[in-house]
Amino acid sequence: MASENVHVELCKGVNGLDKVILREIRGCSAEVYLNGGQVTSWKNEFREQLLFLSSKATFKPPNAIRGGIQICFPQFGTIGSLEQHGFARNRLWIVDPDPPPFPSNISHRAYIDLILRHSEEDAKIWPHRYECRIRVALGPGGDLMLTSRIRNTNTDGKSFSFTFAYHTYFSVTDISEVRVEGLETLDYLDNLKNKERFTEQGDALTFESEVDKVYLGTPTKIAILDHERKRTFVLRKDGLPDAVVWNPWDKKAKTMVDFGDDDYKHMLCVTAACVEKPVTLKPGEEWKGRLEISVVPSSYCSGQLDPRRALFSG
Ligand code: BG6
Repeated sequence: MASENVHVELCKGVNGLDKVILREIRGCSAEVYLNGGQVTSWKNEFREQLLFLSSKATFKPPNAIRGGIQICFPQFGTIGSLEQHGFARNRLWIVDPDPPPFPSNISHRAYIDLILRHSEEDAKIWPHRYECRIRVALGPGGDLMLTSRIRNTNTDGKSFSFTFAYHTYFSVTDISEVRVEGLETLDYLDNLKNKERFTEQGDALTFESEVDKVYLGTPTKIAILDHERKRTFVLRKDGLPDAVVWNPWDKKAKTMVDFGDDDYKHMLCVTAACVEKPVTLKPGEEWKGRLEISVVPSSYCSGQLDPRRALFSG
């Protein structure tokens, strides 16, 4: 763990829950709750919130917090025997004070390592020993980086399989003015049509009704363009071949107790995931998945899907 310093502060959040605040010199920050190992806030240097957090979010464990970035493990969605999105988002993670070496950029001083391990209670529903680590880091330029490492620590020689996702709620000004680039022409499973498989059109995605699609085998970069605010989120992912796009729209929003009726207008979930082909680990094996999110100004325009170029082109 980065030592307790100006960059990393362990303190109490809503309802006295433990949280960690990461800060970078220019004023960017991120907050991570130990409940769920969940990022709930990510702000740029102008202190603008970049992640959506529901106006009705309850901070009542073991319920997951509605918004931010939820860790879905060992199951994403409903395919499997576990509750929707698995149990990791409902558990209390601990700070790992002594993480194993991480191939990370030494210029990152604002980071925290959290860990979740098997418990006797969870073994009743998922009979495996595992170690799930996550590093949340804030880069000097404000980029948010999440790296997960999952290890099979079974002592009975058994392999296990899992699916995984960083269920990310982005804050957008007006959903009807948002475009997502990078998923055109891909195959997807439509959760609103019994997971039937379709192929996306050639145009960037726009939104005018409920959407719940799992895009398969996506490129490593995806962009979310918020026209009104003239900013673009750029996602770069590794080890997470799929991407889930979700907005509940008005009717579904009204059925969700921890979601405001109009909240759907100001959020979009674009979730880096490993869903279609579960990961299988033998005892001792480790899997790694990584998500990096940056924000670039509107000079980043349609068709220019190279975030590095956009970041450094002023
Ligand atoms: C999305 C799923 O990722 O999460 C949707 O694709 C689901 O089907 C949504 O409704 C929210 O799930 P939950 O369990 O957090 O209400």
